Amino acid sequence: MKIQAVRGMQDILPAQKKLYRRVEDAARATLDAYGYQEVGLPLLEQTRLFQRSVGENTDIVAKEMYTFEDRNGDSLTLRPEGTASCVRFGEENGLFFNQMQRLWYSGPMFRHERPQKGRYRQFEQIGVECFGMPGPDIDSELLLLCARIWRKLGIEDQLRLELNSLGNSETRDQFTTHLVEYLSRYLNDLDEESQRRLKTNPLRILDSKDDRTRDILKEAPVLSQFLDDESRQHIDSLCAMLDQSGVSYLINPAIVRGLDYYNRTVFEWVTDNLGAQGTVCGGGRYDGLVSQLGGKDTPAVGFAMGLDRLAMMLPSVDEDSAGLDIFFVSQGGAARAAAVGLAEDLRNALNAKSIQVHCGGGKFKAQLKKADASGASLAIILGEEEVENGTVGVKYLRSRREQITVNQSELAIWCQSHFGKE
Ligand code: HAM
Repeated sequence: MKIQAVRGMQDILPAQKKLYRRVEDAARATLDAYGYQEVGLPLLEQTRLFQRSVGENTDIVAKEMYTFEDRNGDSLTLRPEGTASCVRFGEENGLFFNQMQRLWYSGPMFRHERPQKGRYRQFEQIGVECFGMPGPDIDSELLLLCARIWRKLGIEDQLRLELNSLGNSETRDQFTTHLVEYLSRYLNDLDEESQRRLKTNPLRILDSKDDRTRDILKEAPVLSQFLDDESRQHIDSLCAMLDQSGVSYLINPAIVRGLDYYNRTVFEWVTDNLGAQGTVCGGGRYDGLVSQLGGKDTPAVGFAMGLDRLAMMLPSVDEDSAGLDIFFVSQGGAARAAAVGLAEDLRNALNAKSIQVHCGGGKFKAQLKKADASGASLAIILGEEEVENGTVGVKYLRSRREQITVNQSELAIWCQSHFGKE
């Protein structure tokens, strides 16, 4: 029996991976432009880190983590998200003391969820975390940064920003008490999941997709009734900043996020074009997390975007094309060796061009077919005659011009001038 990929672990084909690359490039360029610093975080952490930050009663920790004992008997977990790791990292490397930090990371995260379109057990995130800044100015910077990435990708019209404030921990406690009191009156009418959550994580009931539960929620107390003054001022100033910058948003009281560490601002960027998994980016403030994990009180805010979902929103690219500029074809041992050497010379001379040498022999006709499919604009042809004369044939693959002959010694200069004119 052939061995297949593990369920929920995606294979990403070249054409698809190009779309991921576009998202990464747009995000990286934007983060550079705002002065954010990239960091590298390990895929494995102590299990305790997520239990103490994401929260024991969240879906992620209660049922989705890939946790195992390593050879020393330590309980380790494949990271289900990056915020906890980034806090651990910053604390361990002394980055938080009296400092402001704007950091970002990227890579795979692991959650044992039920796989479906847009939801995988291994998925890619780009995460951004800012430390040491308590005001709404940094919240708005992060949202403007996101909006700029969406514009770069041409998907801004498909996304809307939904915002909420969770207030402080008292707000949350008071609201939770009132919510539980209210929902308990309708216990038997709630869906099964919500009945369970009433005991473990009542705020998540606000996320329920069940029609009956949604009906009951219409009359439920709302979190904003319990907001403390400072949190109210914070969200009001944030909204004013967004208004001023022309970023539109919607206040959605149902946004509570699935991780325990948030307070005040929480947000999600949502699309209607991906079916049930429409949240492409989510985040918020987590001012208590650094101290909760043993550090000094450090205000913090961040978000993570899901690359798999964002890539699905982009128009697909040409399946076969490797996106080459120059493709070498050759026949005969001496020609093959010459092609390899000339291709290296061209790589030295034309550093931004992509050049491939056909390997594996075959007739010229078949090789030229491959050259055409590669997307290259030029085929450089070497046979016995060219080797003897010290020349190459240059065939224009994307225009009807006649094939020409160029001296091997002048090929690099010829190519520089050819591509310079393009
Ligand atoms: P999250 O909402 O759990 O937040 O994930 C952020 C994004 O990752 C989601 O909006 C979604 O696009 C993507 N994502 C999550 N789970 C999956 C999945 N199973 N398959 C595909 N994509 C997925 C966090 O992870 C927080 N650490 C964000 C944050 C950073 N908050 C503050 N700083």
